[in-house]
Amino acid sequence: MPESILIDTDPGIDDMMAILFALKSPELDVLALTTVFGNHYVEVTTRNALRILELAGRDDIPVARGAYSPLVRDYTSPPTIVHGEDGLGDAGLTDEPDSQPAHTRAAQFIVEAVMSRPGEITLVPIGPLTNIAMALKLEPRIIKATKRVVLMGGAAFVPGNVSPVAEANIHNDPEAAALVFGADWHVVMVGLDVTMPVVMSRQYIGELAASKSAYAELVARVVPHYQAFHAAEYKTDGALHTHDPTAIAYLIRPDLFQTVARRVRVDTHSYGFGQIVVDRTGRWYDGVETTICTDVDVEGVLNLFQERIMR
Ligand code: RIB
Ligand code: CA
Repeated sequence: MPESILIDTDPGIDDMMAILFALKSPELDVLALTTVFGNHYVEVTTRNALRILELAGRDDIPVARGAYSPLVRDYTSPPTIVHGEDGLGDAGLTDEPDSQPAHTRAAQFIVEAVMSRPGEITLVPIGPLTNIAMALKLEPRIIKATKRVVLMGGAAFVPGNVSPVAEANIHNDPEAAALVFGADWHVVMVGLDVTMPVVMSRQYIGELAASKSAYAELVARVVPHYQAFHAAEYKTDGALHTHDPTAIAYLIRPDLFQTVARRVRVDTHSYGFGQIVVDRTGRWYDGVETTICTDVDVEGVLNLFQERIMR
């Protein structure tokens, strides 16, 4: 029986890779995408989500548009240096979609979906957690009704990627993240601890392009902009860190990951805002524990992604 998932996303190049990966994995049933600001304005991430599903031949999957900005803070401007002016690598994939987003907005969509199938639906946030926090506030009963939350975000025992201590999705809305990590449900954190080590080399990307599979060709078209960012930012030869797809890999093959259960808090003040503060000893915090991914079989994740995308 495939796991029913709702992907909350800010596409975004690695979001697109994650969505295609999930669509090609029989272990998962993608019920819908909900969109959020982050890698771009929510109008753009919504258009991109619709386009990704059209290009993937899956415009049967609904898209519900979500938050324009964080719960409390302002959303300034999109990181076009990372994902391109159009959010998908300026690769000519972002014509106006034929399909439209659902009438229901993301937070309500999440509540209705989860409450219609208690215990059966997994939330997979791979962007800022604003929609998830809004859904919690709309209907707290989703805490018990959600099967689990498997999110790409945070940095537990490694540095941040947008500040010395914060990862982008958490940094984009730390107040929302505090609500999500603080609720009494099962959260699995797929953070930079395991997404930074999953590096797609130029050769690996070349193999995708050469495979002539439709999904692999889509990935090969959008990644050049992402490769250029990594070359400039991380001085790579075009190799790139694979954040969002690694969260999908956890859903499919959790055995590729090592985890610890720890209580955490999200810093929402001063210079450390967006940091995931981990109680390493069990002495400081009470409440629910988060499953934190601490190590990963990099080869295993890369092989899994390539095998699925090239199908
Ligand atoms: O820090 C990486 C995360 O921020 C990924 O989800 C990427 O898409 C961006 O949203
Ligand atoms: Ca993302």
